[in-house]
Amino acid sequence: MEHVPVFVANWKMALSHKAAMETLKAIKKLAKDMPDSVEAVVCPSFPSLAEAASFVGKISGLQVGAQNVHWEESGAWTGEVAVSQIAPFASHCIIGHSERRRLTGETDQQVAEKAALLIRHGLVPIVCVGESWEERQAGETVKRVSEQVEVLLTKLTRVALAKLIVTYEPIWAISANNPVAPPDPDEVAQNMLLIRKLAAGQFGNEAAERLRIIYGGSVDADNVKQYVGEPGVDGALVGSASLKPVQFVSMIKTIGEVGST
Ligand code: 13P
Repeated sequence: MEHVPVFVANWKMALSHKAAMETLKAIKKLAKDMPDSVEAVVCPSFPSLAEAASFVGKISGLQVGAQNVHWEESGAWTGEVAVSQIAPFASHCIIGHSERRRLTGETDQQVAEKAALLIRHGLVPIVCVGESWEERQAGETVKRVSEQVEVLLTKLTRVALAKLIVTYEPIWAISANNPVAPPDPDEVAQNMLLIRKLAAGQFGNEAAERLRIIYGGSVDADNVKQYVGEPGVDGALVGSASLKPVQFVSMIKTIGEVGST
């Protein structure tokens, strides 16, 4: 099934509010002639969400997402952010990023609960799954990715698959983790096929075809065609290269011209 390719900018904790707004302004300027055939989602830190959302306003093809949400609707959770607090500003939300799984101990179960909660509130979850370098070396990639996806699917319905984006992001391929080598695009495509097969096993082929699966890990303007050109790869989750407006928009334009598979 043809999907509209989606590019998600994960700005992590890299930018001050002022720098985030300046970066967004630069993207907006460059985005004037951005192809309609591609979706772009910019995910700043929480304090910038409201202003980013009001600034983005009606720019065609550009949306704002959050980088995390709590799995409970509300409650005594000091320092956490609820879905109802991000919903006025964000259309998407990244969940289960490996930096959160690893550093804050977020579990597959919690990530699955977050996905279901976001869907109930009309937001698109961008769920990250992927293996560590040690798991890959031990031949456990399929096992680890399957575990994450299977737990996620237990909390979802067939209909929800069309409202979800799964990111296959091998932890070792993230630029901040100093990858030894970029992942082989064929291997990436195989792991994404695995994710679609798991979804098909649970909900059938037709529903699984509706799921968007994107790739994350050291994507930039030079290699984007290699990854997003593979069959079944519906876009990219971009970290460091998304902080450079020219690079980010150039990747989107490249894929907009090529089209997705
Ligand atoms: P890089 O694109 O910098 O490798 O970051 C990937 C990432 O973690 C996006 O969520």
